[in-house]
Amino acid sequence: MVRAPDVHICEVAPRDGLQNLDVFVPTEAKCALIDAIVAAGVGEIDAGSFVPPKVVPQFADVDAVMAHALTHEATTIGALVPNFKGAERAMAAGVKSIYFVISASESHNQANVRRTIEEQLEGFRAVRAAIDARPAAARPCLMGAVATAFGCSIHGKITEAAVCHLARSFAEAGADEIGLADTVGYGTPGLIKQIVQAVQREVGPQMPLRLHLHDTLGTGFANAVAGLEVDIRRFDAAVSGLGGCPFAPGARGNIVTEDLAFMLERMGFSTGIDLDRLMQTREILARHIQAKHLTGHLHEAGIPKALRKAA
Ligand code: COA
Ligand code: ZN
Repeated sequence: MVRAPDVHICEVAPRDGLQNLDVFVPTEAKCALIDAIVAAGVGEIDAGSFVPPKVVPQFADVDAVMAHALTHEATTIGALVPNFKGAERAMAAGVKSIYFVISASESHNQANVRRTIEEQLEGFRAVRAAIDARPAAARPCLMGAVATAFGCSIHGKITEAAVCHLARSFAEAGADEIGLADTVGYGTPGLIKQIVQAVQREVGPQMPLRLHLHDTLGTGFANAVAGLEVDIRRFDAAVSGLGGCPFAPGARGNIVTEDLAFMLERMGFSTGIDLDRLMQTREILARHIQAKHLTGHLHEAGIPKALRKAA
């Protein structure tokens, strides 16, 4: 019997990984990337953003990419949305998970979505109502994503109270899950634990929480382990360490999925991921994306023979 993963990884390269690039990755390459991620056994993929193409040109083809991604019926295909219109488009496409983003930093929220946090919350409530108005089988999961939860390159320090307020507001408005994002990678293990535990107290143990980590300053993996130590079992990560928010100066790549999966398996967790297959995504990316954007320890070192699992 196949063991269910102990740690759930959502692959965000097709969205977070591509949104900050100055090259347009062709639709077929995005689809091939998604196919390769699915083939590697990843259970959830953030496959794109429903944003105006004027704001993020990379996602001008999001409808076509989603239509393809959704042919993988056993995989949870999700999308980031910044507002009600984005959620309507996502629902029309048939996505299974909607990630609605609001920043804990008022200034990053303005830079990112040109609204106040309170205005964004109104949008989130409207999305919840629109989802609930659909037949049960057609209701996507709704995640409230707290951006800049561990620091902001525009605003600076973000208080625990600001993150808790937003997390509680998401919970009260009917979020199915809450994501805590270290958008610019300012988190440290101690801060990750402090904020996660504060949010756990705020929203209760029944609310699924996930961590979205960037490795801007080299703390990404220490932060992931800190998350594990406070019971986080859901993580976002990007193959080849792609990623970064175009509206958060200084943001660099997400933690590397293949390195994360390798570390977790070595720690005794199961991820359901086939590493060799996941690493094949590099070939697809390398055809379109400059080498300087592609990182990852496993890619440099190779998977040591002695550490491979017995077949
Ligand atoms: N998808 C497509 N078109 C959209 C849209 C969406 N999600 N949201 C708004 N629009 C259209 C409107 O219909 C309107 O079109 P029109 O000019 O033809 O009438 C136009 O865009 C402006 O709408 P408005 O509501 O005034 O948006 P805005 O210009 O204030 O921008 C956001 C607000 C949220 C759409 C924009 O800031 C955004 O997309 N931010 C996301 C940034 C991002 O992706 N960050 C990285 C991930 S966290
Ligand atoms: Zn991110």
